[in-house]
Amino acid sequence: MAFPSDFLFGTATSAFQIEGAWNEDGKGPSIWDTFGHTPGKVYRDVPADVAADHYHRYREDIALLRELGVGSYRFSMSWPRILPEGTGRVNRAGLDFYRRLVDELLEAGISPLATLYHWDLPQALEDRGGWANRDIALWFRDYAALVFEEFAGLVPRWATLNEPISMWVGYGMGTFAPGHADPRLGKQAMHNALLAHGEAVRAFRERDAPGAEIGIVVDIWKRHPATDNPADQALADRDEDDSFRFFFNPLLKGAYGERIVERLTPEGTMPDVLDGDLELIASPVDFLGLNVYSRVVVSAENDNPIWWESDSNRLGGNFLDNGLEFYPRAAYDAIRLVRDEYGWQGPVYITENGTADADDADPIDDQERIRYVRGFLEWIERAVREGANVRGYYLWSLLDNYEWNAGFSKRYGIVHVDPDTLKRTPKASFAWYRDVISRRGVA
Ligand code: FCB
Repeated sequence: MAFPSDFLFGTATSAFQIEGAWNEDGKGPSIWDTFGHTPGKVYRDVPADVAADHYHRYREDIALLRELGVGSYRFSMSWPRILPEGTGRVNRAGLDFYRRLVDELLEAGISPLATLYHWDLPQALEDRGGWANRDIALWFRDYAALVFEEFAGLVPRWATLNEPISMWVGYGMGTFAPGHADPRLGKQAMHNALLAHGEAVRAFRERDAPGAEIGIVVDIWKRHPATDNPADQALADRDEDDSFRFFFNPLLKGAYGERIVERLTPEGTMPDVLDGDLELIASPVDFLGLNVYSRVVVSAENDNPIWWESDSNRLGGNFLDNGLEFYPRAAYDAIRLVRDEYGWQGPVYITENGTADADDADPIDDQERIRYVRGFLEWIERAVREGANVRGYYLWSLLDNYEWNAGFSKRYGIVHVDPDTLKRTPKASFAWYRDVISRRGVA
């Protein structure tokens, strides 16, 4: 296995999951701060106030990245750390934090990939309707424009949104912050997220940032029908339409598509789409970020709309100790899907891929993670060899961190973080990945 010399190996994190310092230096609360402080919403009712304390330990964490030898690092900026009320007043200390982070990365020769939004909406904006309010496209545009100016010439690659399906989980289902369970609101929030993405892309193009690139990160959990029964295929289509196709259709084809419109309209969940929306959403991007973890096998006889919350009772086979199906071909299929079904020829980055330690796994000797990542890298390398335009791979995640409503119960890091002392200890996968990076492939 040998990756091209310009292929970027990296790791990925997000602000809310690692930073902590939730109310320090002028940061405003996010919807996830509110959620975590609301009883019954997150694992053991423990909020991410401290998380992995990266806000104070970022130098140590960048030293780990340096030791690992990554060419790039994907992280996100916290909107409420920069704009505590979401709009208007700028918190200089927040911008300065990211400035120090970016400077330190550049000094280490690590290319930053910054995500503008990884789920931590300012609570002040949720109080004005949040993602369900169409105005958010303009709020997001102003936040993006501010950050683009601040980091012009420093950050070569930007992602607007991470996994906009989170809008569905937060507004349509209620299991993520802000916790609304209204399908109509959920679909409108998804549409508004795409508008916000389009506004940010336009704002980016208006500023001259020679060589800098902008894209979006979408997760692909391809659905496989359990049998060749047409009902299973119909379910697979429906679930893909409700997830990644809901984003790729307008982003890459400029329309939601008949199958979506014809199902959602009679249900009353089709979002309001105004003149010009689809053109805005389809503003050309420079790259696609794909998050790939596994696939989902669906059966009409056994439909499980919250498959990702139940580790047991899943269809498929070859399960990891944590319950996830080990299906490394998913990366290859995702790369082919955007090219063959959407005609996407531009660069693709695998912006997240990783797995959680099983509850009873050795906290340091994480052999299962090594097996998992190796399997995915083999399929990605195959796609590259066959000519796919894949430019990089980001392992989720550098550190054990705060896994949303699962709190600290799911550990995804190649570096163990002691929940009490916050001490960092590289796991076996850290040394293994360092070796992969240095030889540009798996031995
Ligand atoms: C992805 C999220 C990321 C993390 C991983 C495990 O869906 O983008 O923040 O939670 O899953």
